[in-house]
Amino acid sequence: MPSPVPILLLFTLFLRLSAATAADSHPTPPPHHHSRFSKQRLRLQNGTTKPQEHFEITRPLPFNSLTPSCTLPIFSGEFGNTIGLPPSNSTYYPPVNCPWSNAVLHLSAASSGDQYDRIAAVWLSGSEILRTSTAEPTDNGVFWNVRKDVTKYSFLLRQSNLTLAVMLENIVNDVFTGVYQVNLTFLYYDINCNDASIPCANVPLSLFPPIQRSTPLSLNYSISSLDLNESPADLIIPISSTGDEGFWFRIESESDVQHQSISIPLNTYRAVIEVYCSFHGNDEFWYSNPPDSYIDINGLGTKRGHGTYREVVVTLDDNVVGSAIPFPVIFTGGINPLFWEPVVSIGAFDLPSYEIELTPFLGLLLDGKTHDFGFSVTDGISFWLVDANLHLWVDENVDKVQARPVRLVNPSSCIEREFTFHELDGKFEVEGERSSEFSGWVNSSAGNFTTYVSTKLEFENTIEFRNSGKTKRVKQEVEVENVVKIQSDTRVRVLSSRLERKYPLSITSSTEPGSTNDIYTLTTRLEHSITEKKSNGRLKNTLVNSQKSDGWMVVQDHDVLFGSAKLDQSYSVRGGSGCYSRTVLVADGSVIDDTTNIFCASSL
Ligand SMILES: *[C@@H]1O[C@H](CO)[C@@H](O)[C@H](O)[C@H]1NC(C)=O
Ligand SMILES: *[C@@H]1O[C@H](CO)[C@@H](O)[C@H](O)[C@H]1NC(C)=O
Ligand SMILES: *[C@@H]1O[C@H](CO)[C@@H](O)[C@H](O)[C@H]1NC(C)=O
Ligand SMILES: *[C@@H]1O[C@H](CO)[C@@H](O)[C@H](O)[C@H]1NC(C)=O
Ligand SMILES: *[C@@H]1O[C@H](CO)[C@@H](O)[C@H](O)[C@H]1NC(C)=O
Ligand SMILES: *[C@@H]1O[C@H](CO)[C@@H](O)[C@H](O)[C@H]1NC(C)=O
Ligand SMILES: *[C@@H]1O[C@H](CO)[C@@H](O)[C@H](O)[C@H]1NC(C)=O
Repeated sequence: MPSPVPILLLFTLFLRLSAATAADSHPTPPPHHHSRFSKQRLRLQNGTTKPQEHFEITRPLPFNSLTPSCTLPIFSGEFGNTIGLPPSNSTYYPPVNCPWSNAVLHLSAASSGDQYDRIAAVWLSGSEILRTSTAEPTDNGVFWNVRKDVTKYSFLLRQSNLTLAVMLENIVNDVFTGVYQVNLTFLYYDINCNDASIPCANVPLSLFPPIQRSTPLSLNYSISSLDLNESPADLIIPISSTGDEGFWFRIESESDVQHQSISIPLNTYRAVIEVYCSFHGNDEFWYSNPPDSYIDINGLGTKRGHGTYREVVVTLDDNVVGSAIPFPVIFTGGINPLFWEPVVSIGAFDLPSYEIELTPFLGLLLDGKTHDFGFSVTDGISFWLVDANLHLWVDENVDKVQARPVRLVNPSSCIEREFTFHELDGKFEVEGERSSEFSGWVNSSAGNFTTYVSTKLEFENTIEFRNSGKTKRVKQEVEVENVVKIQSDTRVRVLSSRLERKYPLSITSSTEPGSTNDIYTLTTRLEHSITEKKSNGRLKNTLVNSQKSDGWMVVQDHDVLFGSAKLDQSYSVRGGSGCYSRTVLVADGSVIDDTTNIFCASSL
């Protein structure tokens, strides 16, 4: 039997090439479709010939000011024409004679020449630990650094002889010359400093506020926090693909469900699934895709359709156990690449993952059999990259814990769509909602505890085309509310967490034809943000991170010829873990203002 591999590879190659060279049959599309651009023909660079540092604005990790107990360079590689190749690997061993409690993954990358943005990921033993994307280089070169707290993967980081895999599919040819250089280093920190024989960092206590519990001391629930980085799992099982094409599952359509069978130890008393996802090809700008009827009736060549509702759905034995409406990360070539230099879009260098508490389902999982996890994307089109890690906490005192679901109602969901259009102008509204409530008890050696999980997702999106489709407005709002409570059998709440997230997005863009029929001017205004209110016991934190950009560019096909853009970003965290705020103003690739404040303003 001939191997199916060559066909698969060709297929990947074809999709990738068409995404990269993007030979759309409508180079000046009225109506306007959001797209991915390269700056390969942009020659705006001013005087300086030094490589420029690109960055994502986030709160510095508390570890940044500490001296690591040890540092482990783990990977150094170049990603040239890596399309269709398996990930690059190295072998991981934990550092010796190095006590540590927390770990950071540091990615350092550089590139010069011309290149599109690329998606990349890092896996340890098949478990994803970072999903990231690249900056688009210039002739002078760009470089960037990403530091991620990976303490939640401590279980893996304490194992020996693991494969660390890095996937970054890139295309290098006469036109696209940018090769991506990537180095990865693990940094280990000991914030407890128990071992007097080893010099350890002098930890300012304020950096690590004590974990606050609402637990009376007589109840000793085995973990002190529901936050994965604060109380990491004892075991992590990847729910991912085999690795030759990366460990992610590639989801091509709404009916494409990717499955994996898993069995878990019988003494598991807590389970959380962490889902990573990113969207590409015809779904890279899913939040701005009109319905197929609009595309078909107007005879448009684009395949960027199927409306705007997308929900990554996780099933256990074919029952929905959770879902995520992803934060719409915009890669550095997206919408207008001039917006994203040197400050990249929210999440571009460290894409968010989504955690779903599965403890109420342990009553089903702890029967000694294998269970099927499935991933799909509601209304999705080609293509999505999805995988997950199952974080498990096990009771060392017993071989088996008892568990029963109490309330498992199939999550209610409803999606409404309202479309009106005449020729190229029209309005498309989509509204969706899902809510779920699950609970179940687990009786372990620490006692009998019931976990309650309630989740609510709300989604609203409106696309308007005006001016014969030359003006497009996209407005989207997503709201997520997630509550987890753990209660003893005497009804004492031992732990609780509440997470509220909002991520609105609005994009207005208009197209003006240029001197020849394949040149046009695109003027865009974009605003998006993430607001996150988290309470973990008595510890409350609020994050507000918003970006506003506007600008114009003259483009030919998918190349930016010239243009101008500015970005205004405001990032602020306040609450139990202290305050941090930063505002940055960028105009035409130069940082005009960058102000950081680490003091809490009195008005809260
Ligand atoms: C990666 O590490 C090598 C060897 O230390 C160094 O020469 C190179 O400059 C590094 N590249 C980046 C992008 O950090
Ligand atoms: C490391 O693991 C590989 C297979 O995953 C195995 O072949 C090899 O012997 C192991 N090396 C050591 C030193 O244990
Ligand atoms: C890296 O490891 C993965 C998983 O074991 C494997 O599929 C892939 O072929 C390896 N890559 C290389 C270049 O050998
Ligand atoms: C609860 O679990 C503990 C520890 O495994 C066990 O001793 C106890 O009998 C269990 N309780 C019940 C009611 O089964
Ligand atoms: C506290 O934990 C210990 C060991 O984990 C267990 O033996 C003890 O019964 C627990 N106490 C309560 C009140 O559950
Ligand atoms: C654990 O607690 C729940 C709720 O209080 C109760 O229904 C269940 O019977 C208890 N399980 C055990 C083994 O005691
Ligand atoms: C580009 O050059 C102009 C004129 O020399 C100067 O005003 C501007 O600040 C420069 N911009 C950058 C990004 O260096």
